[in-house]
Amino acid sequence: MSDRLENTRPRPEVLAAFDGATGFMPVDEGLALYAAAVTAAHRTGGLPVLEIGTYCGRSAILLAAAAREAGTVALTVDHHRGSEEQQPGWEYHDPTLVDPEVGRMDTLPRFRRTLHAAGLEEHVVALVGRSPQIAALWGGRLALVFIDGGHTDEHATADYEGWAPHLAPEGLLVVHDVFPDPSDGGQAPYRVYLRALDEGFEEVSVTGSLRVLRRRAA
Ligand SMILES: C[S@@+](CC[C@H](N)C(=O)[O-])C[C@H]1O[C@@H](n2cnc3c(N)ncnc32)[C@H](O)[C@@H]1O
Repeated sequence: MSDRLENTRPRPEVLAAFDGATGFMPVDEGLALYAAAVTAAHRTGGLPVLEIGTYCGRSAILLAAAAREAGTVALTVDHHRGSEEQQPGWEYHDPTLVDPEVGRMDTLPRFRRTLHAAGLEEHVVALVGRSPQIAALWGGRLALVFIDGGHTDEHATADYEGWAPHLAPEGLLVVHDVFPDPSDGGQAPYRVYLRALDEGFEEVSVTGSLRVLRRRAA
């Protein structure tokens, strides 16, 4: 099995939809995520790719496009109530994402509109709920697990422990917001990344804060 990710890029209209979507992921990281998803789906014979942390669908656009390309489906998990840092008064709060009737964040409508506008709805399945609850119910194998949910140690660790065991042997683990230097950002994803290296994964690629890992050969 080659170490390298496939040299593949999303179609221009997919990239334009990604660029226009609400979210935080820069384009270079998105391109690496897309290549990882296509590669993983091909290597595993078309198993699904899964993301934890849908938010408004920015990265899900690329996973759905990769799934379409590889003949599989993208699964995306979120309770759609926002992470700690997205709540009112915090750095990443967007007041346009609050449901006025409920008085809480609800990113599901924006996600649905975004995937519909990109023409990718049929290539993605939204799993609405808490990541550990869904992981505990999940029985299938996965080509790729992309961890971009809650960024506290509690949530990032639960995402890793809940979903990494579902990866197929040839599958890829992708972790976002890995910042070795604490002055660049929170450390929970970095700690998950270090733990994965310690538990049999090795690095395939580094793009910004995005790390792509695979299981080390036995
Ligand atoms: C950083 S955002 C995801 C960004 C998205 N991947 C993108 O690139 O546009 C994190 C998301 O994780 C979700 N989240 C946080 N903790 C969660 C949990 N325990 N279960 C499900 N979703 C969670 C939040 O609701 C939020 O939408």
